[in-house]
Amino acid sequence: MPGMQAVIVAGGLGSRLRPLTDRRPKHVLPIAGQPLLAHQLRRLAAAGVQHVVLATSYRAAELRSQLGDGGQYGLRLSYAHEPTPLGTGGAVRHALAELHGDGDDPVIVLNGDQLSDHDLRGQVDQLDDVGVDVSLHIVVVADPRAYGCVPTDPDGRVTAFREKSPDPVSRQINAGSYVFRRRVLADIPTGVEVSLEHETFPRLLRAGRRLVGFRDDGYWLDVGTPDALVRASRDAVRGLLHSPAMPGPPGERLLDHTAEVHPGARIVGGAAIGPGVVVGDGAFVDGSVLMASSVVRPGATVVASVLGPGAEVGSHTVVQSSVLGDGAVVGARCELSGGIRIGCDVHIPDAGLRVSAP
Ligand code: GDD
Ligand code: MG
Repeated sequence: MPGMQAVIVAGGLGSRLRPLTDRRPKHVLPIAGQPLLAHQLRRLAAAGVQHVVLATSYRAAELRSQLGDGGQYGLRLSYAHEPTPLGTGGAVRHALAELHGDGDDPVIVLNGDQLSDHDLRGQVDQLDDVGVDVSLHIVVVADPRAYGCVPTDPDGRVTAFREKSPDPVSRQINAGSYVFRRRVLADIPTGVEVSLEHETFPRLLRAGRRLVGFRDDGYWLDVGTPDALVRASRDAVRGLLHSPAMPGPPGERLLDHTAEVHPGARIVGGAAIGPGVVVGDGAFVDGSVLMASSVVRPGATVVASVLGPGAEVGSHTVVQSSVLGDGAVVGARCELSGGIRIGCDVHIPDAGLRVSAP
């Protein structure tokens, strides 16, 4: 696919990931030591995409400083910034100004928070059929209510699009990877807020346009919550998610070379230990994400959790399925489990907290 172009929508607030997203967009949170978007960019480059436009809004400066001009990922990256968020459709329409090409050309559009190893080339090939306007990657999930529900007919043609329906008509959902015929995007109104999911897809279906599903049940995850972040990172470290952004072979853990891990500490379960992290004697870290310069004191336990940059877990404290924001300090002998979130720079004194959410 020489000359293929793509847009990634990456302007959302990432509210469900607070406090990790208080100071950065979710799109740069580390998945196995790499910014989330690095996995998508490498994948696009591997599929032959040469130019990607990042549609940004919230905390765009952080995206630019981490991802730069895309050279490190083997493609050209440019930015289309929305001072006020335009919604997913408005964002893509706005970014289109950065792309050249004619109306028949395919344009890949990705939600910037999903990780997938589906057959992108196979999906682009669906537009070889001249009658096809849009291809949507579809996966099947147990509970579709948090997603866009996308039923198809026996030929794979999309028959409806219902975003976050309380009573979904199918377990097939929109996985957030699209290939659009360029002219379909050019028809989206400019300068106003437009939702692809609530407006554009239903409108195209009403107009009788041909939307087809690309069903591929490979690895797929929407990294919208701390649980998903932990799972994605763990899966990438262990090789369940095949990502061309991974620096080496899969393993039980990933340690940045500047981390200081005491030989008496145990790190297991696909944990990812970031730059400058310190883990003390007798500490146990299982399947977690330890961001830059975070500290796990001797004898502490950190399971399925995320420590923001500079966060600290006191000695003999247990942190399970929980999140510490940037610079948060939990003193010694505390217990946090079941989805507790400690805000940025909050300090909890020694033995000052024993909480377990249901
Ligand atoms: N530039 C820009 N501007 N980006 C935006 C805006 C905006 O106004 N609003 C959202 N985005 C980006 C987010 O940053 C994210 O990358 C993507 O659009 C999707 O937004 P989410 O907020 O993550 O949506 P969701 O997870 O609830 O639902 C979407 O993804 C599901 C699959 O992961 C929908 O596309 C669903 O239909 C889909 O099933
Ligand atoms: Mg999402």
